[in-house]
Amino acid sequence: MTQAVDAPALAVRNVSKDFPSGGGTLRVLHGIDLEIGPSAQVAIVGPSGSGKSTLLSIMGTLENPTTGDVVVGGASTATMTDGDKAALRSRAFGFVFQQFHLLEHIDATRNVELGLLYAGFTPKERRERALSALDRVGLGRRADHRPGQLSGGEQQRVAIARAIAHDPRVVFADEPTGALDQATGASVMDLLRGLTATALVVITHDAAIADSLPRRVRMRDGRIEQDVDQEARA
Ligand SMILES: Nc1ncnc2c1ncn2[C@@H]1O[C@H](COP(=O)(O)OP(=O)(O)O)[C@@H](O)[C@H]1O
Ligand SMILES: [Mg+2]
Repeated sequence: MTQAVDAPALAVRNVSKDFPSGGGTLRVLHGIDLEIGPSAQVAIVGPSGSGKSTLLSIMGTLENPTTGDVVVGGASTATMTDGDKAALRSRAFGFVFQQFHLLEHIDATRNVELGLLYAGFTPKERRERALSALDRVGLGRRADHRPGQLSGGEQQRVAIARAIAHDPRVVFADEPTGALDQATGASVMDLLRGLTATALVVITHDAAIADSLPRRVRMRDGRIEQDVDQEARA
């Protein structure tokens, strides 16, 4: 089935999330509705504990909502098996975290290739895509370096290469600059903002980073308090 060009890449429909807490349950997300357009660049901001990471994990199908649905490219994930969701993630999503989560004993190329293992590419395609993604993040000449031979900013670029090597629909980043100094973080954000072929959802507590993205979703106590889209207003 073909999709309208402006159909959302991802839609969160009335999502709530409960965690067990002291014999009862704690509701940390309350009926969230959110649509992410195919080329949206969204900052998620809000106080610590307001539910940002939980929402990102649910959007990325890493965690199941207690109620509600996440619709990806028009397809509901509510009835998908864990295997279906793993396949969806390996095809459609890329993830970047504060800690880079690279394997220390293998070089940048192999780290990126590993991320492609379940996306249905041949070994040759994995190699080509890994090298091309490392080129795109400015690390073409560091492709054979292991993480220990790279700076923090370079390691995060490898993680970004891994997140984009399969040309995902959405890149999710949870505090991607949290372990970097300001200047390095700014250049990592420049790189993420330059990824115009995918939607981008970035959790940040850095106001300058949030302000550098066209749309800002502010969370408080498990609810969306404000959703400002400068491009939509223009
Ligand atoms: N696995 C979990 N079990 C129990 N409570 C959790 C779990 N994950 C998160 N929480 C709680 O959910 C709330 C929201 O957490 P989180 O999504 O990490 O917020 P943020 O990313 O905005 O700091 C917090 O109160 C946190 O303690
Ligand atoms: Mg968090």
